[in-house]
Amino acid sequence: MTNNKKPIGVFDSGIGGLTVLEKLMEKFPNEDFIYVADQGHCPYGTKTEEGIKECVLNVGRYLIAKDVKAIVIACNTASLFIKYLEEITDIPVISVIEPTCMAAINKTKNNRVAVLATIATINKGAYQTLLNNNGVEAFGVRCSEFVDFVENYELTDPLGQKIVDEKLEELKDKNVDTLIHGCTHFSLLEPNMRKVLGDINYVACGEPTSIKLYEILKEKSLLRFDENNRYVKIQTTGSKENALMNMKWFKAPHEEIEEIEI
Ligand code: DGL
Repeated sequence: MTNNKKPIGVFDSGIGGLTVLEKLMEKFPNEDFIYVADQGHCPYGTKTEEGIKECVLNVGRYLIAKDVKAIVIACNTASLFIKYLEEITDIPVISVIEPTCMAAINKTKNNRVAVLATIATINKGAYQTLLNNNGVEAFGVRCSEFVDFVENYELTDPLGQKIVDEKLEELKDKNVDTLIHGCTHFSLLEPNMRKVLGDINYVACGEPTSIKLYEILKEKSLLRFDENNRYVKIQTTGSKENALMNMKWFKAPHEEIEEIEI
């Protein structure tokens, strides 16, 4: 059994992917992490396909140069372009989409599932196709406004409930029993969503992705086993002050946030 001491790279367009990082930190207590919040280029979800691909390759190259042993794309929009990263590296690259979607398929009883995601993710149809191929009806809603809210406002700001009320209106008569947070920023708005849709199943990316990562690291003998006083580095391509202001909800221990230019 080998003991691989390299860190795991994780990235998102911003702070939404920290919802995934916190689940990864729980599942892998010995592993070091480097998390990049690409806030200098956020949001991804309203960019052209070419624009998103460029961001994915840019952050991906940076993490590969840091000698990470795997990259978790803690962003659904960026995960749509995983193949471009896979083309430039041999290390495992993990998308959040498939594990999250399969978790929702396992949860639904009536085969009616809502997908809330960015404009780019809904337009690309990755979730809808996977759901349909498994006999599940998909109800996609484009909610890129939620990204801007999570990045720039306190979660308790009343604007959050207002935009959630507006966007979820079209789901009220759809009888969905499961909702996928098809953007890693969105699970932070789950309390607001519950006020509209009540006690249905809400599926976020963090846990299913952590299970997927475990399977892959185990299969490739890349896990770390020794007791490690681990580090979790969080780096932003935007401003540190801005990042700090709106990630107060993130309580997991980490090093001081660093600004990077990539
Ligand atoms: N958090 C990202 C996702 O999961 C997208 C946010 C953005 O539009 O930048 O899709």
